[in-house]
Amino acid sequence: MSLPESLDKFLHTRATELFRIRHPIVLGGMGSATSPELVAAVSNAGGLGTLGLSGQSPEDVARLIEQIRSLTTLPFGVNFLLFRVNDASVQVALAKRPSVVTYAWAWPEQDLKPYVEQAHAMGATVTYMVSNVPDAVRAVEAGVDGIIAQGSEGGGHVGVMGTLALVPMVVSAVAPVPVLAAGGIADGRGLAAALALGADGVLLGTRFLATKESPLHPNFKQAIIDSDGHDTVLTTVPDVIAGSTWPGALSRTQWNALLAEWSGRENELRRNRQTIAQAVAQARAAGDAQHTPLLFGQDAGLIDSILPAGEVIERMVAEARLIISERLAEMIGH
Ligand SMILES: Cc1cc2nc3c(=O)[nH]c(=O)nc-3n(C[C@H](O)[C@H](O)[C@H](O)COP(=O)(O)O)c2cc1C
Repeated sequence: MSLPESLDKFLHTRATELFRIRHPIVLGGMGSATSPELVAAVSNAGGLGTLGLSGQSPEDVARLIEQIRSLTTLPFGVNFLLFRVNDASVQVALAKRPSVVTYAWAWPEQDLKPYVEQAHAMGATVTYMVSNVPDAVRAVEAGVDGIIAQGSEGGGHVGVMGTLALVPMVVSAVAPVPVLAAGGIADGRGLAAALALGADGVLLGTRFLATKESPLHPNFKQAIIDSDGHDTVLTTVPDVIAGSTWPGALSRTQWNALLAEWSGRENELRRNRQTIAQAVAQARAAGDAQHTPLLFGQDAGLIDSILPAGEVIERMVAEARLIISERLAEMIGH
């Protein structure tokens, strides 16, 4: 086999087969931080775009999926957080027949099977995001087709296990079910490393937030560019402000004026929640990056420009190919 053929084999994985995509790169469904434009840009570039639909009404779910369809004919996914799922919205999404449905963050007592079976019945491929091994096993027992192993470096809500340790543990625990690595991955080095850990591809959040098509306020994109990746913390402050309780997650959030004011004073924050939440909503709308929670991953330190999402994918694939080809060339003595 020639070197280029070997490389194509490396980057053609069970995930590209499962999702019917060209490159093993998936956009994480990130609630209102994803948009039809971003989803379509990722899918059109050969990855899998995923729209976060948690909190959307059934009407909005239908409208947003139709918007994606007007922008791409390629496969895309939708994402729901199960601990606060709106079953009517899931039904509407499934009826629109997205090719992939990805769930995350169920309560331990929640039965995953009905969600998996309903999505399968509508012809969808089903994945589930986990931050530990027991949850991965539970999801596979419920019949999912793929697992996303998300490490604590990642942006948004995460567990305590780091990506480097979690991914190979999950790969071994659920084999032969394909696994995507997530958390802290932003370039071709991360993609090559994920494949070396036994993953079949990667899922990115933060890197795609800093793209041209991302719906984030320009100031929030700039905060990711400016971050050196050392300035995020794991905190409950955003959830206290939002009045929501997650099944055991902390959120990786940039340390800013809001965090400095309320970290360690969560009880007082709880008492004043409504007033603070209003102020935060205003700050968010105004693009004030100091007074609203900015959820992004440690990989912000690997991101130094806002790129079109398609270029992120092209660069990642090219860089991973280069890394792998150098290793292969060394191995076969080229
Ligand atoms: C702002 C933000 C919101 C997110 N919302 C969701 C969500 O609604 N559902 C979900 O499954 N994952 C969500 N995630 C997690 C991502 O899907 C992904 O696992 C994570 O961003 C990967 O780490 P990275 O940011 O280092 O790439 C969110 C992440 C961020 C940064």
